Amino acid sequence: MTIHIGAAPGDIAPVVLMPGDPLRAKWIADTFLDDARCYNEVRGMLGFTGTWRGQRVSVQGSGMGQPSLAIYVNELFRDYGVESIIRVGSCGGVTEKVAVRDVILASGACTDSSMNTHRFGGYDYAPVADFGLLSRAYAAASALPDTTTHVGLIMSSDSFYSPRPELMEPMVQHGVLAIEMEGSALYTLAAAYDRKALVVCTVSDHIVTGEETTSAEREQTFGAMIEIALTAALDD
Ligand code: HPA
Repeated sequence: MTIHIGAAPGDIAPVVLMPGDPLRAKWIADTFLDDARCYNEVRGMLGFTGTWRGQRVSVQGSGMGQPSLAIYVNELFRDYGVESIIRVGSCGGVTEKVAVRDVILASGACTDSSMNTHRFGGYDYAPVADFGLLSRAYAAASALPDTTTHVGLIMSSDSFYSPRPELMEPMVQHGVLAIEMEGSALYTLAAAYDRKALVVCTVSDHIVTGEETTSAEREQTFGAMIEIALTAALDD
């Protein structure tokens, strides 16, 4: 048991899918895994372990934002020996190069968070995806007929309601495709522990075009994303 995860050693698989919403973790376990068992209810941040095509996999909610995600990721890597974490989440499109329902595989994650400012003493670190996970996810996504996939940069912001949205403009001019709130901390911690991580996001809303998805569309594209993540993590 750790402070935030009530699992016994061995309860958590080496591969973990990580949605922000703990109820999404339950939905993934119910929809995709066989013999899923809940190993964590501390603070309602549900975690499950089951099998997918015969291989053990866990699904752990992270909560919203980098400080919350970092608590779970630190404990999974440090105390439970987890090898790979794939964040599966939603993001907001910030360029017309992407549309709602598209899937984004984040090759790297920029951030406005002070977490990396403190960690690196003001130097700018470049948090990036594990290349093996990224290339397998790209192959899996390319095989899905109805899914448009992009590989590129995301922005991991500490603010959903940004006080200074104009600061996104230079980010977009330098290739950022979408905004979310967790990826940079995940990539940085994977590097710190010498483990593997990937962020797979579906575009749920579009900050430029104002497009939004219905909840039925979100569920469908979310399902495609889970297939991509499971294939990338376990099918090698
Ligand atoms: N901002 C931050 N995170 C998000 C957004 C957004 O617009 N959409 C989905 N996740």
